[in-house]
Amino acid sequence: MPHYFDRTSEAPSRPHQVDLVLADWRAELVSDRGVFSSGAVDPGTLELLRAGGRAPEDGSDLVDVGCGYGPIALTLAHRFPACTLWAVDINKRAVELTGANAQRLGLPNVRAVAPEAVPPEVRFAQIWSNPPIRVGKAALHDLLTTWLARLASGGEARLVVQRHLGSDSLAAWLRGEGYTVDRVGSKKGYRLLRVTR
Ligand SMILES: C[S@@+](CC[C@H](N)C(=O)[O-])C[C@H]1O[C@@H](n2cnc3c(N)ncnc32)[C@H](O)[C@@H]1O
Repeated sequence: MPHYFDRTSEAPSRPHQVDLVLADWRAELVSDRGVFSSGAVDPGTLELLRAGGRAPEDGSDLVDVGCGYGPIALTLAHRFPACTLWAVDINKRAVELTGANAQRLGLPNVRAVAPEAVPPEVRFAQIWSNPPIRVGKAALHDLLTTWLARLASGGEARLVVQRHLGSDSLAAWLRGEGYTVDRVGSKKGYRLLRVTR
């Protein structure tokens, strides 16, 4: 059975438009079959973007881990034009969609690439993610520890996780790994987590 987190999509391509509507920005994004929440921007993603966060310093690197067709990375690139927005996903079609959306929207500060293509020396002032809970606990933990290890000093991660998909146990696990986790929002069944070292 195909999943949105497969590396390549079996689903025949059928591009379509999705509207991203936020108080500070509206954008028409191109989505496609075989990527996460392809028909409309995920409600958890919208809550994460509505809540926002502190402004990063100009020139810093930010990453959207599991970018899908790009709603998080593209919004951050729009909000912080002097920062570099890395958008990574295991799903090749998702990376291509994010790159094409960035071009169409005139956001030259987006680097949409496969996860392994981010130069290893890059450290992130901010990590943003609507993480792929459905990959399973071991793979999710591995993904989060891999990227959180690349937080710059003083950096923070912002995650959105559905309560019924285990946000509280994920927060407890992160604390056990030595991170500080603050719940910075809770709306419509989604928890917004701020993770720092
Ligand atoms: C819940 S979706 C969020 C997508 C997008 N950020 C959004 O808000 O619509 C999680 C994404 O993580 C991706 N993913 C799964 N495993 C991954 C991995 N090991 N590395 C990077 N991305 C991964 C999936 O392909 C999927 O696009």
